[in-house]
Amino acid sequence: MGTQFTNEAISSLSADWLVIGLIESAPLPEAIAKLDETLAGLITRLMENEDFTGKQATTSSLLGLTEISTPRILLVGLGPKADASLSSLEKAMMTAARTISTKQNRRIAVQLPELGETSVTASEAARVISTSMVVGSIGQDLYREESARHPFQDILIVGTNSADQSTCEQAVDQGLILGESINLAREMVNRHAGDIFPISFADRTVEIAKTYGLESEVLDENQLKQEKMGSMLAVAQGSDQPPRLAILKHEGGDPSAPTLALVGKGVTFDSGGLSLKPSDGMKTMKCDMGGAAAVLGAMTAIARLKLPVNVVGYMGLVENMVNGSSYKLGDVLTARNGKTIEVLNTDAEGRLVLADVLTLAVDRGAAKIIDLATLTGACVVALGEEVTGLFSNDAHWSKAVQDAAKTSGEDVWEMPMFPQFAEQLKSDVADLKNIGTRWGGAITAAKFLENFVGETTWVHLDIAGPAFASANQPCREGGGTGCMVKTLVEVANQFK
Ligand code: BES
Ligand code: MN
Ligand code: ZN
Repeated sequence: MGTQFTNEAISSLSADWLVIGLIESAPLPEAIAKLDETLAGLITRLMENEDFTGKQATTSSLLGLTEISTPRILLVGLGPKADASLSSLEKAMMTAARTISTKQNRRIAVQLPELGETSVTASEAARVISTSMVVGSIGQDLYREESARHPFQDILIVGTNSADQSTCEQAVDQGLILGESINLAREMVNRHAGDIFPISFADRTVEIAKTYGLESEVLDENQLKQEKMGSMLAVAQGSDQPPRLAILKHEGGDPSAPTLALVGKGVTFDSGGLSLKPSDGMKTMKCDMGGAAAVLGAMTAIARLKLPVNVVGYMGLVENMVNGSSYKLGDVLTARNGKTIEVLNTDAEGRLVLADVLTLAVDRGAAKIIDLATLTGACVVALGEEVTGLFSNDAHWSKAVQDAAKTSGEDVWEMPMFPQFAEQLKSDVADLKNIGTRWGGAITAAKFLENFVGETTWVHLDIAGPAFASANQPCREGGGTGCMVKTLVEVANQFK
């Protein structure tokens, strides 16, 4: 896919579709009014008859046009002007992309909407449109003979104000990179566990590092033993697939500048281990490497955007399975930092993987850490399927990540880290146990992780809900979502 910004007149564009976003009950912007005249008032009539009102993310197709050089127009509603935001624009443009990508269309033009005195700038809008067209036109067709969606070849974003030309051109390029990075994370999640297991995931990180100029390192099971990662290795023990720790490094900043570490849970399949999940809970557990996929997507984007910062991505890759060597209930593990952990549920495996990877990130000199994990069903109970839970040991860092999420249009909600939750993790035989009671499960999981970051400034993002969507919606495809890629890139962009 390629994206491009242009100031050509819309009536002479050559494209398969022209997408036009319109604000609800607002007069037509000048360029559209002119187009409407060329179409003998068709758009005005649609609005007068209330066949198209501009209501948020509704669409109307005008087909078989001969008056202009594009045969099809898709009108898409942006909602009322008072609600105009990057998220409402994204929702509308994702819906548009999903609507027209059901058939093969090579060249798509999108008119940059005039949002007037709203908080959205032209270049921000151009970026969001670019990303939406790239993400919205790819479905879950990896294993289907007949694709339900057809990626666009050329995406043309059409501006009206030539003064914005160069910032919009840049924004459109950035939007493409973000979109492709989100699609990479989605692809990794959508591939089944026979395709993506620790070794194949790690191989992919090495290949991507070569393509985009990242430095890469992969620790195999022997190196993990040397590193004394007894917690992560215990989880891997029950699988025929050996574990890997994949590391990607982007050295865009001064060597003396602080390093941001991104740590992802990469459980390529979570059967639950001996604490076996029932089928219903297991059927989507190829998604349990969504944290690692977000780290991979973000690192790719950070490298391609050449951000002037130092970022290291750590992806802890294991499969949680059942065989004769599986780790067992009652086992006492020794984590890399020397803390002992009593295993009382082998399905609370993500925290065991992250424990060891977090201490490595700390020891390798991370100034600040963000970890991402499909960690607890309890977080989905608390916040629903579309909101990420945020937990932190530092109010400033927490705010920085929340601000980045807001800018990126991703929903994040902070959860408490009260000390009493740590009481639940006290063990009679070890320093910690790996589960608490039924209540506050997302928080006890975060409190568990806190034991492995020491004094380092840290945010934990529980993406168990938003990493994987159970069904299609008009504005987004089901399956892997690529959630938090944009937020991570924005954090890196602001990182000092
Ligand atoms: N990978 C799961 C959490 C999960 C649940 C992710 C639903 C996505 C959707 C995690 O490893 C897990 O099994 N957590 C247990 C923890 C419990 C045993 C303390 C859970 O949430 O039930
Ligand atoms: Mn589990
Ligand atoms: Zn898991």
